[in-house]
Amino acid sequence: MKKIIILVAACVLTVSTALAARSGQEIYLEHCAGCHGKDGSKPAGGLAPLAGESTDAIFVKLRGYADGVHGGKLKNVMQNVTRKIDGSDMRAVSDFIDRSLKGAPKAR
Ligand code: HEC
Repeated sequence: MKKIIILVAACVLTVSTALAARSGQEIYLEHCAGCHGKDGSKPAGGLAPLAGESTDAIFVKLRGYADGVHGGKLKNVMQNVTRKIDGSDMRAVSDFIDRSLKGAPKAR
C-alpha cells in the first residue's frame, strides 16, 4: 500500500512539474506577441523592439516592471503583464527572446 501511494505521488509530481514548466516560446506567444509582434520587431509603446536584446537586459526590465521600479509612460501596461507570469516564466521568456527572435529583416 505504501509503495502505491509513493508511486501515485511521484506521478502527480512529475505531471505537475511538466505542466508548470512552460517553454519560453509558449509564454511569449501567449503573453507578449500580441503587442511586441511574433518576431519581436514591433516597437510597443514607442520603445525599441525586443528582438536583439539580451536575456539579462529583458529579465531585469521585466522584474523592474513587476517591482514598479522600471518603465516609461505606459508602464502600467507591462505591470499588468508581469502579474500574469512568475519569475521562472520571466527568465524563460527572456531567454527565448534573446535566442530566437531576430526581428523583421531590415529594409535596405
Ligand atoms: C498589452 C500590450 C503588451 C503586452 C501583452 C506585452 N507588452 Fe511589453 N511593452 C508594452 C508597452 C506599451 C511597453 C512600453 C511600456 C513603458 O512605457 O515602459 C512595453 C515594454 C516592454 C519592455 C521594456 C522595453 C524597454 O526597452 O524598456 C520589455 C522588456 C517588454 N515590454 C517585454 C515584454 C514581454 C517579455 C512580454 C510578455 C511576457 C510583454 N512585454 C507583453 C506592451 C505590451
